[in-house]
Amino acid sequence: MWTLHEVDGQDAQLLDAYVEAANTVVVDTWGVTDFCRNAREVAGSLRDQQYELKWRRVALDEVGTAVGYAALNLPLQDNTHTGYLEVGTIPAARRRGIGSALYDEVLAAAKAQGRTKVTTSTDQTVEPPAGVNTLAASTGEGRVAADDAPVRFVTSRGWQLEQVERRSVLDVPLDPEILAKHRAAAEQVAGDEYRVVTWTDHCPEEWLDQFAILQTRMSTDVPTGGLDWGEEAWDGPRVRAREAEFADRGLGYLTAAAEHIPTGTLAGYTSFLVVPHTDEYVHQHDTLVIREHRGRRLGMLLKAANLQRLPQELPNVRRIGTWNAEENAPMLAINIDLGFRPAGGAGEWQLDLV
Ligand SMILES: CC(C)(COP(=O)(O)OP(=O)(O)OC[C@H]1O[C@@H](n2cnc3c(N)ncnc32)[C@H](O)[C@@H]1OP(=O)(O)O)[C@@H](O)C(=O)NCCC(=O)NCCS
Repeated sequence: MWTLHEVDGQDAQLLDAYVEAANTVVVDTWGVTDFCRNAREVAGSLRDQQYELKWRRVALDEVGTAVGYAALNLPLQDNTHTGYLEVGTIPAARRRGIGSALYDEVLAAAKAQGRTKVTTSTDQTVEPPAGVNTLAASTGEGRVAADDAPVRFVTSRGWQLEQVERRSVLDVPLDPEILAKHRAAAEQVAGDEYRVVTWTDHCPEEWLDQFAILQTRMSTDVPTGGLDWGEEAWDGPRVRAREAEFADRGLGYLTAAAEHIPTGTLAGYTSFLVVPHTDEYVHQHDTLVIREHRGRRLGMLLKAANLQRLPQELPNVRRIGTWNAEENAPMLAINIDLGFRPAGGAGEWQLDLV
């Protein structure tokens, strides 16, 4: 038998159990530790809940071994109709109803908070080719295998596949000459109205309001498939709050942004999220060029510029991982040009709660 326990980051034993269960599930799914987390990082993520309510549970068996976990993030400032949930059971404890029990609790929590929709992801290490036993996203791009355990878990509970994301991995360091060529070719198209500005962790005060606008546009100017996700309202204090949260979690954040010189505004940005559990891997976080400035190779310019910082600032990094919607052809094309290779992906699912 098992019992479910609330994890609020204060109780070190429950926190460690939660981290262990979540790490066991991701290592089993992916075969690598790139997505692992540590207790400090998870505790830090739970401390500040002014923009998101973060609900966590861990399942312990009768001798106290962590056998499963559930997480629910509920936006509090915008998108208050929805929430993102995760449920995982360690491989040795599957098919005993633990996933279902965690799922029932997490869904009840979302409903109790008045949410009318929830979203979740099912990871896959290979995207299946089109054919029988596959499900296609409502976007028409990307597939998942219908008989994968997580896919069966959600389809049998009425979830709809609204988007498929591709995961891509780039081995670094890249040849500096190739990177310089990518940057120069992009600069040639962009012309002399743009220049790259970079920062680490702390957005310079002069760009704070502009960066907040870009964060808002990150919620409206990227493909979201059939997922019901509206504009996020970002301002300077919200950017600063996230910076403080990242610092608390031990995360680094390397950003390159494109200034449009004639207007003194920012046209786009790209960021690396530097994780605390390893120095060999970083996440390629957001990349955005706002609609008004597209078609000028700014996406490549920004990515090449941020990659050029790596050998000096993070010399031990050997892999960068990223996620893109399968229908996001322009972003995928840039990544493929840079040498990113497909490495699986995820189905993005939504459930109507009313
Ligand atoms: C999906 C997952 C949480 C299920 O956990 P679990 O503890 O095995 O779940 P349960 O024992 O409650 O099983 C629930 C139902 O899921 C489905 N299911 C789970 N594993 C399955 C499998 N290998 N084959 C077919 N159906 C499966 C079945 O409908 C099952 O009900 P049943 O046992 O009565 O047939 C687990 O496989 C997991 O952690 N996967 C990785 C994380 C993930 O992708 N989570 C889903 C998105 S949030």
